[in-house]
Order: sequence, then structure tokens, then C-alpha cells
Amino acid sequence: MPPKRLRVTPPIPPFSVLVLAAGQGTRMKSNRAKVLHEVAGEPMIAHVIRAARSIGPATMIVVVGHQAEAVREAVEESLTDPVPGRSGKPVPVPAPVIHYVHQPDQRGTGHAVMMARAHLQRLKGDLLLLYGDVPCIDGEVLLKLLQEHRRKRASMTVLTAILVDPAGYGRIIRDKTGDLGSIVEERDCTPRQRRVTEINSGIYAFQTGDLLQALDRVEQKNAQGEFYLTDAAAILRRGGKRVGTVRHADAGSLLGINTRQELAQASAVLQTRVLDGLMTEGVTIHDPASTFIDARVTIGPDTVVFPQVIIDGPTTIGRDCVIESWTHISRSSLGNRVHIRNGCMIGESLLDDDVRVGPFAHLRMGVQLEEGATVGNFVEMKKSRLGAGSKSMHLTYLGDATIGARVNIGAGTVTCNYDGKRKHPTFIEDEARIGSDTMLVAPVRIGKGAVTGAGAVVTKDVPPGTLAVGVPAVLKKKKVV
Ligand code: UD1
Ligand code: CA
Repeated sequence: MPPKRLRVTPPIPPFSVLVLAAGQGTRMKSNRAKVLHEVAGEPMIAHVIRAARSIGPATMIVVVGHQAEAVREAVEESLTDPVPGRSGKPVPVPAPVIHYVHQPDQRGTGHAVMMARAHLQRLKGDLLLLYGDVPCIDGEVLLKLLQEHRRKRASMTVLTAILVDPAGYGRIIRDKTGDLGSIVEERDCTPRQRRVTEINSGIYAFQTGDLLQALDRVEQKNAQGEFYLTDAAAILRRGGKRVGTVRHADAGSLLGINTRQELAQASAVLQTRVLDGLMTEGVTIHDPASTFIDARVTIGPDTVVFPQVIIDGPTTIGRDCVIESWTHISRSSLGNRVHIRNGCMIGESLLDDDVRVGPFAHLRMGVQLEEGATVGNFVEMKKSRLGAGSKSMHLTYLGDATIGARVNIGAGTVTCNYDGKRKHPTFIEDEARIGSDTMLVAPVRIGKGAVTGAGAVVTKDVPPGTLAVGVPAVLKKKKVV
């Protein structure tokens, strides 16, 4: 998570994490489960899981329900992401044991926790409880909450914030002594309670046994007829238990997502954090407001990113690179001193050091450009390798092609790789020169140092050092110089 650089996890006593992610998210007006909606390029739930993982829980329990299988897949995928530390470099975090619990009908946050009872009974140590729709949370805050919870030996500790506009959140109602007395949902608030600006973030630390006991006594007496987890606060207080709060100053990181508007706000919060992190590490971003870079991207120092660039991950970009405007780079790896000019699309590709691409080039997928290779205007490549120092500068399609070093591909060259049924490979060996407008009818091999004439339609292999000209191309035996 380049968002907020974390310290390497300090050794802390074991604790577990419970994430609630079963709800549909009615207010999103979507067919997709709320926690699957993307924030800063990744499903909401992925951000929550990463923040939790970064502080090293022993066990993680995820309550799924609505579109359970898809949510589970999103969690599994996020577990494969590296967890970057303070320097942006991945830090080793122990892999938690992960359990999924099914909540078939969603009858409230308290009900969701009840579904996990069997697992919770077996847990040792404290429990951090998170909602899957609070994606901007980071590990440092979670750690602070857990430490404060332990220091005070509390049964429950609630992470809170003061909001200018607390609408939609549960309110923190304090008693005369200033301690937390109860959490009241907005719909159940009296007018006076509604004026309270301190809100429940939906993130808590619990003493697991006390939580289970409190849950037994949660009822459905509220405006929504649901089992509210938040009722645990008042229940524990009435039982003489200690319920504490940790107030967090950065309210943006506690944003709960119920609507599309809040989804956009969360993306903005995470974007700012990612871009800040990159700039701190020495990356120039000319116009952060129009630059979209997701949390799985790492970029080396002295790389310059121009306005209106999109980079999503996992992507690695080296140092001293230039990424010009209107370029989209996705799931790719770029070496050092790579220059991407205006208007390129690059997906699932590997670019070695000193490569130049664009303007207006499309590296669709599975492309490898070796050191110093150049791909120019209106060139499309797919599943192809261009060797070191080779060039394809203009108006070309290279698909399923393996091209050696120091090759020149003339303007308008096309690898005709598809016969209507199957794809066929093209091989072009080192130092070959492909004339302008050559059609390479695959499968075909152009030998080392061979040359094709302008407009040639090559249907048969061209041996090394041979010239091929015409339609269909005929071989000129004499050695090319
Ligand atoms: C909840 C809190 C509120 C807090 C706010 C913070 C309760 C009763 N209220 O309200 O005090 O200010 O979050 O964002 O807890 N979920 C399930 N199963 C269910 C219901 C919900 O797994 O049966 C999950 C949802 O997927 C979601 C999370 O719990 O990720 C929160 O549920 P949501 O309905 O969004 O609660 P809020 O109304 O936002
Ligand atoms: Ca919510």
C-alpha cells in the first residue's frame, strides 16, 4: 500500500481480524456487491484486507453473503499483492490463516458477527473488527487502536472521528463523565443526538469473550429491525465493562462508503495518498489532479509523470523514466530510463532499460521490448518480442512475432498471423531489414541479415543474408550486403 508508508510490523502479541463484507449495499443502486466496487483501481475490500494484513494478524475471518463467491475471490486476489513498507519496498508480513463465514441473509452488523461465533470462540487474544466498506483505513491507525485498547485493558474500543457533516453515521453518545455510553444510529437518534458530530467509524478492538457475551443480548429494537453490533457498546457498559474510544484526526481515512458519491470521495482520498507517497520517494508528478495511479504501482526516483496519465497495477516502473500525457500503463514492468511518449496504451508487457515507445503506440499484451528497442507511431504489438536495439517506427502490426536484435521493421509492415482459424508465428532473426509495406504471411521465418523489398508479400521462409522481393516474394540468391 504505497498510500501510507508503514513501519515494518513491530512484534505485538497475537490478535485476529474480522471483516464484515456480506451486505449488498442498497444505497449504491447496483447489481454488484458494495465491497466489490472499485476505489482507486481496486475493489474496496482489497484495501481493507491489505491494511489489516500490514499489521500481521494471526487469523483473519471474512463474513461474506451477497455475491459471496466473487467477494471471496477478490479477497484471495488481494492476498497475493505485496504489502509495501515505509520505503515503498515490499515488507515481509506473515500470512494470516484465513476463514470465510457465510451470512446467508443480512440482518445487521451484529448478526454478521454472530455468524462467526464458532471461529471467534476458538480465538486467542484481541479482535480487530473492520467493515469492508471503509477502504481508506491504514495499518498505522489500526495499530494505534489495538495498542490503546490493550493499554486501557478495555472490553471494546471504538475508533471515532469528528465530522463537519456526520450524516449517515452512528453517533458517539457520551455520558456526563465524557465516557462512551452508547452508539446510536442516525435513524434512531433524537434531534439532540443527531447534532453530535463525533461518529462511529465502524472499526473496533474487542476482547473476544466480552464481544460474544454482549452479542447474546443484542436485540432488533431499532428503526431498521436489524441486529446492530453497535449496541454492544451500551450492553458492555451496563455490564460494568470498560468501553474506550480512540479519536482519529484524519477523518478522510475513516470514510464509510454507502453511495457512489462517497465512492468517488474515497478514490480521491486514496489517490492523494498514493501520489503523495510517490512524490515523497522522488517521483515528479506534474499534475496530481489529473493523474491516476493505483496503490499497486511502484515507481523509481527521478521518473517524471506528465498530466493525464493512468497507471494501474501491479506495475513497476524504474528510475529516470518519462511517461508523457494520455498514456495508460497497466500490469506491466518498465526498466530504467524508459521513455513513453504521448498517447500510448501498454498492457501486460515487459520493457527493458532505455526502451522508447510512441507516440500513439499500443502494446496490447505479452509484449517484451529488450534493451534500447524503439517502437514508434501507430505501431500495435501483441504477444511479441522485439530484440535489443531493434526498431519498428511507423504504422505496423506485430503479432505472435519473435524478433531478434538490431532489426529494422519498415513502415507499414504487417505480420499476417491469422488465417481465419488459427494464429501463426513469425520469426525475424538478428540484423534483418524488413522493407516498407512488407506482408509477412505466417508461419514464416526471416533469416539473419535477410532483407525484404518494399511491398513484398512474403509467404515462404527467407534464408539468412537473402533478399526477397515482389508479390508473392521471390528470393534473390545473391548475398545482401
Ligand atoms: C455502520 C454502523 C455505524 C457507522 C458506520 C460507519 C452499525 C449498526 N452501524 O452503519 O454506526 O457509523 O457503519 O461506516 O453497525 N454487513 C454485513 N452483514 C449485515 C450488514 C452489514 O456483513 O447484515 C457489512 C456490510 O457489508 C458493510 C458493513 O457491514 O461492509 C457495514 O454495514 P452498513 O449497512 O454499510 O452499515 P452503516 O449503515 O454504514
Ligand atoms: Ca456503511
